[in-house]
Amino acid sequence: MAKKRILSGMRPTGKLHLGHFAGALENWVRLQDEYENFHMVANWHALTTGFEKNLDIRQNILDMTIDWLCAGIDPEKSLIFVQSDVPEHAELHLMFSMLVTSARLERNPTLKEVIKDLHLGENISYGLLGYPVLQAADILIYKANAVPVGEDQAPHIELTREIARRFNNLYGQTFPEPVALLTPFSRLPGTDGNRMSKSVGNTIQLADEPDQIKKKIMSTITDPQKIHISDPGHPEICTVFTYHKKFNPGEIDQIERACRSGKLGCVADKKNLIKKITDFLSPMREKRRILESNISQVEEILQDGAGKARVIARETMDQVKEAMQIR
Ligand code: TRP
Repeated sequence: MAKKRILSGMRPTGKLHLGHFAGALENWVRLQDEYENFHMVANWHALTTGFEKNLDIRQNILDMTIDWLCAGIDPEKSLIFVQSDVPEHAELHLMFSMLVTSARLERNPTLKEVIKDLHLGENISYGLLGYPVLQAADILIYKANAVPVGEDQAPHIELTREIARRFNNLYGQTFPEPVALLTPFSRLPGTDGNRMSKSVGNTIQLADEPDQIKKKIMSTITDPQKIHISDPGHPEICTVFTYHKKFNPGEIDQIERACRSGKLGCVADKKNLIKKITDFLSPMREKRRILESNISQVEEILQDGAGKARVIARETMDQVKEAMQIR
């Protein structure tokens, strides 16, 4: 039986951190064998906010693609490409924009979050409003069956389904209604205990060198009530413990017991974690060195991915144009 197809995307924000890894990338890598995977760098979506200062988009694309490859996205199994290299996405976005009302887009809860986070007020571009319509085009142009996303993106998948349904009703069965594959809850906090985010400066990057990892973990917050080794700790509020859960699951019970009973101090605990995270990232570091000295290979992977994606995108566009009587 043919494998089901997945389309996943990320905006090129530059080098990725452990939060991206735990929240998305790890899941993508896992899904590679079960599904046919399309991984897209959403560079047009990156323009919907902060386009005034997006001078690094090209470099960010390379940095992010390298991180994907280092984390285990395998170009032999999966297509990796840049959204704007398949301009058919924009064409389908235009067609779809007829099938959605602006009121529907204004109700999008993810948009409301962005407006609040970025203090946009009334200053919302036509492009930002249409963000999920472009996302629907990204997904449906490949007739993807599933989309691995975090909870915040679920409303966009819902809208994608609505657009698919509306198109099918008006013009005949063309698109599947894709489902969201929600990432198993695994939001990794930043070193300060808040959401890990580049803008906050509390990240550990996949590309960090051992001395950077050491510095960051040594300053990661633990349980403020645990001052001496003998003080009983509270792992449930400790960020270092959360990291152990993710990167050192084998020792988790033992660490919890030793911490609670005042036998394990935070410094020793952190040193152990530093080794685990450093070891975890070390194969990626090796791979990165090779790729960074061979950027043309990375470019080739993106070109090759776009070429293959485009064949499928064109087929879909032919059907859409036929259905909508656009030559
Ligand atoms: N909106 C997604 C995000 O911010 C990125 C994205 C663009 C995407 N197009 C997509 C995700 C298509 C999945 C499918 O994370």
